Amino acid sequence: MRWKAPKGMMDVLPPESERWREVVEKGVLLFRAYGYREIILPVLEYTEVFARGIGEGTDIVRKEMFSFLDKGGRSLTLRPEATAGVARAFVEHHLGKSGLPVKLYYWGPMFRHERPQAGRYRQFHQMGVELLGSPHPSADAEVILLCREFLIGLGLSAKLVLNSVGDDACRPAYLRDLRSFLEERTRELCADCRRRAEENTLRVLDCKDERCRDVLREAPGLEAYLCSGCRDHYRKVEELLKEAGVDFVREERLVRGLDYYTRTVFEFQDPELGAQNALAAGGRYDHLVEEMGGEPTPAVGFSIGLERVLKALPPVDGGERDGVYVVAIGDDARRKAFSVAFKIRALGVRCDLDHMDRSPKAQMREADRQGYRYCLILGEEELTGGYYSLRDLVEGTQERLGEDGWLERIGGLPARGNGG
Ligand code: HAM
Repeated sequence: MRWKAPKGMMDVLPPESERWREVVEKGVLLFRAYGYREIILPVLEYTEVFARGIGEGTDIVRKEMFSFLDKGGRSLTLRPEATAGVARAFVEHHLGKSGLPVKLYYWGPMFRHERPQAGRYRQFHQMGVELLGSPHPSADAEVILLCREFLIGLGLSAKLVLNSVGDDACRPAYLRDLRSFLEERTRELCADCRRRAEENTLRVLDCKDERCRDVLREAPGLEAYLCSGCRDHYRKVEELLKEAGVDFVREERLVRGLDYYTRTVFEFQDPELGAQNALAAGGRYDHLVEEMGGEPTPAVGFSIGLERVLKALPPVDGGERDGVYVVAIGDDARRKAFSVAFKIRALGVRCDLDHMDRSPKAQMREADRQGYRYCLILGEEELTGGYYSLRDLVEGTQERLGEDGWLERIGGLPARGNGG
């Protein structure tokens, strides 16, 4: 039997895995520069954390969770996202106790039992930040700017789409009117929307079905229902973004698939990605911490989908050469090569040697195939002469160097550089 990875789950192989690492490292540096610190969460939570946090009526909770009973009969779920877990941890560890806001970032795998398609997987990876404790529009604006800077830093230009979904003061009236509109037009809606109209009304606005879209063009708009608090909050977020020179469009129909949002919601979309065009998304969630049993704690955050970001980046070009391959000729040299490789690696420079009993020529070919910059050649001549031959595979040159000489040359190489 030959096994395959589970449906919708991928192996990330080199060199793609190295690009992942680069993207994650860039993200971490940027998040830290904005004052965020890492939180490492369990991959599993009790199912109620997501059911309550994300919302019972959402597609994620209704049909996309990988849930199972543990040996004690409690339902656990592989996390479909991280925000609910962050809120749970915030409450459990009293993270707000020593001052607000609390700024946390995370990255790792998420799991949703979706129908796999391009850009949509069952195991995917997110990097994200959560800023807990501030109700101010400046927190929303900062989070949006950070997300944008991350994407721009990778060379991606995505369209920022923004909206306000209101709050408990104004959304109920809107939902009531939207529901009665949908009831009147129920026959014209797709089966999903008919169900959503009851359980997850806002999501109807998001339907991609053309017939539903035609109906929805006549639906009441959310903007007109916003209370003065939400209106004012939204206006200030827009002002701050304009001040920072950020382009965005307001889309009244942007509602998002998770129930915890209040006020600001946003997405960074790349139209070239097709149907799954959101590279990153987020918004404000002022009641989630309370939902997890904590004090009222307004919060805002976003998550970036790593698979989609990687897909939007130009293809890998093989990368620059780096590191040193130790070519050993003869048994004595092979023994010596071991300690030499050890020294090079201690410098933080990528280094390898032959474990396949290859001829010297084949060792050189292997060094070339593996993208090494130098071959450090150790043969009988070199051993008796007390020198090393350093061959530069880029320049095609070779020189004799004493131990100090090659160590100095190699020490100048970037530690764990490209492809390493
Ligand atoms: P989300 O919109 O569900 O939001 O996911 C955020 C991003 O994760 C999406 O824009 C997309 O890039 C990626 N993503 C989601 N589902 C998949 C999938 N099945 N396959 C591949 N990529 C996917 C959240 O998860 C919220 N927790 C964001 C947030 C953080 N809101 C506030 N703080």
